[in-house]
Amino acid sequence: MRIGLFDSGVGGLTVFKKVVELCPNTSFIYLADTARLPYGEKTSNEIRQIAEEISSWFRYQSIDGFLVACNTTNAIALDVIKNTLDVPVFDLIESVSSTIKSSRVGVLATSSTVKTKAYTNAIVNSNPAAFVIEQSCPEFVPMIEMDDINSTMITDIAIGYLKPLLKQKIESLILGCSHYPLITPLLTELLPSSVKLIDPAEALSLQLKLFMDSRKSNFGKGKFLVDSKFCVTADPKNFSIRAKHWLNVFPEVNLVSLQKKGCVS
Ligand code: DGL
Repeated sequence: MRIGLFDSGVGGLTVFKKVVELCPNTSFIYLADTARLPYGEKTSNEIRQIAEEISSWFRYQSIDGFLVACNTTNAIALDVIKNTLDVPVFDLIESVSSTIKSSRVGVLATSSTVKTKAYTNAIVNSNPAAFVIEQSCPEFVPMIEMDDINSTMITDIAIGYLKPLLKQKIESLILGCSHYPLITPLLTELLPSSVKLIDPAEALSLQLKLFMDSRKSNFGKGKFLVDSKFCVTADPKNFSIRAKHWLNVFPEVNLVSLQKKGCVS
């Protein structure tokens, strides 16, 4: 029994890590669509097409549950994924939005996610008094993928992105792109201590844990990384090197074609 998850690149590893913390001994199949990275500046049509291809590929992977570890696809094409897969689908935006208690909320996300206002709509839906301000951060994903996360340049860019949110006196800040937890130290340094950083992967992990507890007889057979599979659509070596940075081991990475159906053994 295994859980599928995907992202455009290494960002989904932040979700993977959180989920593994809460649900150890589970096997996962992680797909990084590195050939088409970044997603955040693509059109809705492109994202919906990608979501269809990815979820169709996952139909052949013998999964029992699916995590949308990419906020951009979550915001634009969750319906496509749910319609294509016939297993329970867990998503970041819905999972975290219902847990937000603050009344002034900032969201950092990709341009495509911000355009949809998916975070604002979901938060206000469960907390109508909330004020939500969303900020797109087009420069972050390419820099994070290049491991350029300690430069003066990314610091200056982050200061610029945070400025309008801080002006609005936000109380909490949602990391609305799964790549952004990889720059948590930088963001923490730039934010006043009164602003609470929220990683949606925590709420998503809780949802998965509840699901697994309800099906306990079928889960808990895997071992961290040993029984998990990592797949990419381009450059497996680079992904393995980048993943080592966050997972502390070089995972074995398979190059896959989404057109080729069939289970990754
Ligand atoms: N990490 C993804 C997200 O959460 C996609 C980022 C990108 O590829 O631009 O939105």
